[in-house]
Amino acid sequence: MAQNGARMIAAVRSVLRHAFEWIERPLDRLFGPALNPVAQLGALGFFFFWIVAVSGIYLFIFFDTGIERAYESVENLTNKHWYHAGVMRSFHRYASDLMVVMLVTHMLREFAYDHYRGTRWFSWFTGVPIIWLLYTSGITGYWLVWDKLAQYVALVSSELLDWLPIFGEPIARNFVSTGTLTSRFFSLMVFMHIAVPLFMLFAMWIHILHISRPKMNPPRTLAVLSLVALLAASLWNPAVSQGQVDLSKAPVAVGLDWFFLPLYPLTDLWGNGAVWAFLGAFSLMIALMPWLPPLRRAKAAAVDLAHCNGCARCAEDCPYEAIRMVRRTDDLPFPTEAQVNPSLCVSCGICMGSCPSSTPFRRSEELRTGIDLPDYSLRELRERVIATAGTLEGPARILVFACDHGGGAGHLSGAVPLPCVAMAPPSLIDFVLSKNLADGVVVAGCAESACYHRLGAAWTEQRFAGERDPYLRARVPRDRLKTIWASALESGRFERELAAFADAVAAMPATASASPSLHAILPAPEREPARLPEGSVP
Ligand code: HEM
Ligand code: SF4
Ligand code: SF4
Repeated sequence: MAQNGARMIAAVRSVLRHAFEWIERPLDRLFGPALNPVAQLGALGFFFFWIVAVSGIYLFIFFDTGIERAYESVENLTNKHWYHAGVMRSFHRYASDLMVVMLVTHMLREFAYDHYRGTRWFSWFTGVPIIWLLYTSGITGYWLVWDKLAQYVALVSSELLDWLPIFGEPIARNFVSTGTLTSRFFSLMVFMHIAVPLFMLFAMWIHILHISRPKMNPPRTLAVLSLVALLAASLWNPAVSQGQVDLSKAPVAVGLDWFFLPLYPLTDLWGNGAVWAFLGAFSLMIALMPWLPPLRRAKAAAVDLAHCNGCARCAEDCPYEAIRMVRRTDDLPFPTEAQVNPSLCVSCGICMGSCPSSTPFRRSEELRTGIDLPDYSLRELRERVIATAGTLEGPARILVFACDHGGGAGHLSGAVPLPCVAMAPPSLIDFVLSKNLADGVVVAGCAESACYHRLGAAWTEQRFAGERDPYLRARVPRDRLKTIWASALESGRFERELAAFADAVAAMPATASASPSLHAILPAPEREPARLPEGSVP
């Protein structure tokens, strides 16, 4: 039963993954990976939040918070001041709708790319209250216009709330007869419409607490394009009200905002109890998703103090805020040391790739580094590299560092699998080429805009370009190194690019074949000293 459920979730995930890839990869080519809007959904969510906040504050200048004059004040700002306050009203409404679009697509995408289990449960789980808060903000907003739609929203919401045993007396009664309506309830809605978004901002801050360098702002070009699109929509189809409330009549036909109110018509069809049951079951299921089934986790990265000089590179590069620098606990002459929080570590190995002590040129017995993966150590990585290199043959021996999540993952021969390509320190590539273990090296990661470990592709590019420590040494022949950013569903493109690279390398002047034996590659220590960078621990 549980297995069937897990299989079903995996099948849904796979369908969604294909759908996202199908949309995203052409957008990568159209906009470039950095500008692809589908890779910026969280950032766009924040961006639209700020637009909603600023336009909301502007509208508040013109809005009369008393129930008697609320409708009139909204009409006034929409018609008389259409060119500024009216446009702001449309910005407020459309940016809110876009927040819903961003939230839903962002959630589906994190699910499709399996970014919600294991350590990542925290971001997922804290996303659930955001859904409720966003909907509460939107629904209370429709209430404030105090037009026919507001009446409908007020009536249905009150009936829904009355179904819960919260209020002493039914609040829906307020909206069926003019006599009992209290403006206090309206003021409560005004208050909620301001307070709930503040809670939402707080929830959004918590949501990204365990993410290092979260993308909270979209690239400027994307932000400008979004603003232009919002302005165009605001001028073309301005947000308007739907006629003044008449509490003596029940609202009959109102135009619904399908982004915020899709469940409202269901209260008639299903009844209030069933709508609550649906909302409860949906929220519970979403909240439990990270454990349906849980992700099997490898052992967390471990620090070896004897090889840590407290340079903090690992802490800067970790995508999950799993490393912090703390006061030194041994007697080595450095002020700080790295400390891993195992509950945040996803064992991506990026820290190992960034540590200056990760130098494969050292002899086996010395091959320890500042921070290592217990289940896949630097030593084991080097052994796999040497063993795989020994199997390479043909006119061009190409060694592939293949990310487990990218297009090279299924490649059968000559590939060294890695949880993330940024786990391989640049000195390992230097090692492979300078020791003539291969004629060329391919680093095969995920699609650039959808790196499974968020920052692996960016760090790799920057290290190779000499923009980030530890950088790839200048002596490494760049024409013998190729990066291929291809998603798991682009294995065809990966193979084509790999074959083209192999052809190009085959046409280069031949290099002498090396013996793949470790002993032959790593000579005696006095001839091959460990090359620790300055300041690191010998
Ligand atoms: C308007 C609401 C939301 C905003 C503004 C928002 C924003 C963000 C941002 C900025 C990130 C960091 C992205 C990055 O730099 O890699 C993020 C990550 C994430 N969000 Fe949201 N989010 C929202 C709602 C949700 C919801 C409802 C869910 C799911 C229930 C969710 C699930 C996640 C997950 C799982 C991650 C972590 C991704 C990773 O570890 O790579 N988010 N979100
Ligand atoms: S393995 Fe990855 S998640 Fe764990 S500490 Fe290193 S960089 Fe951070
Ligand atoms: S020496 Fe290595 S383990 Fe220590 S702080 Fe620097 S990168 Fe981290």
